[in-house]
Amino acid sequence: MAREFANEKLVVKKSTLTGRVRASGAKNSALKLIAASLLAGSRCVIRNVPSISDVVTMIEVLRHIGLEVSFDSGSVVIEPTSKPNLEAPYHLVQQMRASIEVLGPLLTRYGFARVAMPGGCNIGSRQIDMHLDGLTRMGADIRIRQGYIEAEADKLEGSRVYLDIASMGATENLLMAGTLAKGTTIIENAARDPEIEDLSNFLCKMGASIEGAGTSTIVVEGVDSLGGAEHKTIGDRIEAGTFLIGGAMSGGNVTVEGVEPVHLENLLVKLEEAGCHVGTLPQGVIVSAADDIQAISVQTLPFPGFPTDLQPQMQALLSIAKGTSFVTENVFESRFMITDELNRLGANIKTKGNHAIITGVKSLSGAPVSAPDLRAGAALVLAGLAAEGVTEVYGLHHIDRGYENFEEKLQSLGASVRRVLIQGEDTP
Ligand code: EPU
Repeated sequence: MAREFANEKLVVKKSTLTGRVRASGAKNSALKLIAASLLAGSRCVIRNVPSISDVVTMIEVLRHIGLEVSFDSGSVVIEPTSKPNLEAPYHLVQQMRASIEVLGPLLTRYGFARVAMPGGCNIGSRQIDMHLDGLTRMGADIRIRQGYIEAEADKLEGSRVYLDIASMGATENLLMAGTLAKGTTIIENAARDPEIEDLSNFLCKMGASIEGAGTSTIVVEGVDSLGGAEHKTIGDRIEAGTFLIGGAMSGGNVTVEGVEPVHLENLLVKLEEAGCHVGTLPQGVIVSAADDIQAISVQTLPFPGFPTDLQPQMQALLSIAKGTSFVTENVFESRFMITDELNRLGANIKTKGNHAIITGVKSLSGAPVSAPDLRAGAALVLAGLAAEGVTEVYGLHHIDRGYENFEEKLQSLGASVRRVLIQGEDTP
């Protein structure tokens, strides 16, 4: 199961990552697959689910609603309930914003849902207006009362919904809502991430009628009911990308198996541009480090653009590149919290608005640093592997939200990384 202790740190020493590692199931798919089980009239089994704290939180949300859920050896088994409590409470939503993904399924299946308003988070303000506007267009009556979203609809009506931004979360919520709505729901400017296709495949196994998932127009024909289904979660492209970048910046050679190369094309193109050698397997990717990493420009964009979830790791890599790199963050406004921490390790990064200007340095030097969020935490560990001396990474609860057995996997690639208890005098 996911780790219980937040009072730990990772002690990281310079090492070269070399070898093979298997990607876990995708966090950002598994969370939605679990939420989608709310739509099913009988048992669902989801395999290849990573043991991370965000999954535990989503399971807690379903248990709070009244479903019977077990999680063992990577499989989540979900039994429906005849007496649901149609609510996602504040203490769970506050831990994980993805809890909002139960709104669409509960509303379309039961005609009512009460979900705590997600607050701010470390990477930006993260609005949910498109989730709510879309459901309103489908006939929901939505009000905010005492910090909760209360949504009601006798029967959602299929509708044409245009998303201002290709939001992953809004696409998924509306896709799930459409499965049991009356008539046809069309989502325009839908997010095209592979995790949305994975969700759609699961819903179709449950009996839903969906076309176009993975493209910017998704068409959902509402059906009367959905049954249980069994499904295997796709591999985690962001976890895989993290290990590949780690190999590239530590002078190594890493193969990640269990992930679709096409899901990582955006990263592979950039790593090649930086001078790395890149190869693909039918279900895997190989990256060998460049002799000298070259400075490049990176802009984050919704899929198939470069993923914002690999942007901090890319900053870590480019901090030791030859020349000056430019990184532009277009998805989340506050996703540069990594830069001050990387600068503590000797990087030379300046930010202006959503741009980071990274002047490559010859080497980083180890220091204590704090993970400001999940991906930045992983990026700091990678930086520690490339730095001279010892790096201590605090704030591991962020990393444990999304990386299964992170240090064990790194160790299997030859990394010197140890999780130790924080002693009284340690300062995070
Ligand atoms: N946005 C709005 N209104 C909305 C919804 C989104 O303005 O109603 C904005 C957001 O504020 C943001 C942008 O649209 O600026 C994109 O947000 P999106 O909805 O796509 O993000 P999300 O669904 O909340 C998921 C992943 C994130 C990942 C983003 C972008 C999950 C659980 N989370 O978030 O993953 O960064 O898509 O790809 O799927 C992570 O894994 O570290 C992580 C943060």
